[in-house]
Amino acid sequence: MSADFATFCEEIHRLTGLDLCRYRPEQIERRMGAMLARYQVAGWDEYLRLLQEDPARREEFVEWVTIGMSEFFRNPDRFQELREVYLPALIRAAGPGGVRAWSAGCADGPEPYSLAILLEELDAAGFHRVLATDVDRQGLRAAEAGIFAEGAMHQVDRETRDRYFRPRGENWEVVPAVRRRVTFRYHDLLSAVYPQGFHLVACRNVLIYFEDATKRAVLEQLAHALAPGGILFLGATEMVRDPDSLGLRYLSPCFYRKEN
Ligand SMILES: C[S@@+](CC[C@H](N)C(=O)[O-])C[C@H]1O[C@@H](n2cnc3c(N)ncnc32)[C@H](O)[C@@H]1O
Repeated sequence: MSADFATFCEEIHRLTGLDLCRYRPEQIERRMGAMLARYQVAGWDEYLRLLQEDPARREEFVEWVTIGMSEFFRNPDRFQELREVYLPALIRAAGPGGVRAWSAGCADGPEPYSLAILLEELDAAGFHRVLATDVDRQGLRAAEAGIFAEGAMHQVDRETRDRYFRPRGENWEVVPAVRRRVTFRYHDLLSAVYPQGFHLVACRNVLIYFEDATKRAVLEQLAHALAPGGILFLGATEMVRDPDSLGLRYLSPCFYRKEN
């Protein structure tokens, strides 16, 4: 890491709270090179000045580095498994208080709304809630609006679309019955404080950004955020090495259970 880049990272941490040192360097370099070219700036100092002057650019920078790509029911087979195998048991175990789910790294919202749709479908009368968090404030605002372009809807079948979405021009709006189950909030997975007591934690396609030691530390905290018997739901290319040491048991690709 060059001295310029190290200073840049320190200042970005101070300005945005984003700790670039804990992301995989290839990820940062690839994204940053494109940003410097876009603003036609010669180096880190000049780009840093642009960011210091303009909060909107800082938000854009965070979004750009962390790439908030998402869609409803990403990896539909895994969501089907969640719906058929794990959620019914979690709903039974949670009892009248309802399932508490957390979508950590929720981007602009398709993942937490997908979870809320499944919970609504399985038990509309239950008090099930989904907390949805991210570091990308632009993404969180878009998520809260609950309006999605066709591009995010490829895996939504017609019946689900007609029940849980309303047309909004060329876009689709999530119905209030689903929206009221989801709360969006800023949370940095690199921080030391995590919410606790979840029956389900979905952290999908987020760990891939982090270097190994950080990945492990985040997984440790996610495992700790689960109530005993709770389920951890990861992305299709992510896994927990040595799950026993985190008190987790491997169930099937993408799914782990927190042991008592
Ligand atoms: C590719 S998206 C994944 C979205 C969704 N989970 C999915 O699988 O479709 C990755 C998300 O992780 C978020 N992210 C990156 N670093 C984070 C951090 N330190 N804390 C919380 N979220 C983070 C990004 O802002 C982005 O929205």
